[in-house]
Amino acid sequence: MRFDIITVLPGLLESPFAHSILQRAQKKGLSEIIVHNLRDYSLSKHKNVDDYPYGGGSGMVMSIEPFAACIESLMNERHYDEVIFMTPDGKTLNQTMANELSGFTNIMILCGHYKGIDQRIRDLFVTREISIGDYVLSGGELPAAVLVDAIVRLLPGVLSDETSALSDSFQGELLDAPVYTRPADWRGNKVPDILLSGNQAKIDEWRYEQALERTRQRRPDLLK
Ligand code: ADE
Repeated sequence: MRFDIITVLPGLLESPFAHSILQRAQKKGLSEIIVHNLRDYSLSKHKNVDDYPYGGGSGMVMSIEPFAACIESLMNERHYDEVIFMTPDGKTLNQTMANELSGFTNIMILCGHYKGIDQRIRDLFVTREISIGDYVLSGGELPAAVLVDAIVRLLPGVLSDETSALSDSFQGELLDAPVYTRPADWRGNKVPDILLSGNQAKIDEWRYEQALERTRQRRPDLLK
């Protein structure tokens, strides 16, 4: 699966994909993440990518030309299943959305800055607008990294334990049960006996009950 991310701050996206699962997915050829510097597509001498808003007001607006030039040059190379704009006024990202997007082949992601991007970019090119939550960040780069992570870990072969993405909190309708590792007793704080019992049926039952209780307490809205 290929991601093309368009940003004015490519440096912000150097690190998130260079570690752990996201790095391994790229090394295995399961995902390809290409970051494009919007300034490379600026037509102006000083490589500007924004301008004053029509109608006045504070803040700058990202211009249509550099985005259009970058988007169109990418679209000349391949078909994109989705062109996504990361924005706090988009639809809130959830697991169902990540699952759906993980079935696609080519995704383009636009990161906004300043006061926003010229509405015509959204009208003409964007197929989906996604928010990562009801708070405002300084740009779309970190949200783009969150989105890519949520998708890539679902691609077949990315996680070593095929089933572990499926048993995540939010994949079913329950949150995850608590987990423990060694030592079994740390300063008198013991791992629940049941997990040391070797009785897998009982352990599964305990985990289910813990997951149910945690969901009841923290996210009753998930229980139908
Ligand atoms: N850009 C700024 N804030 C954002 C958010 N919460 N989600 C997506 N993109 C954003």
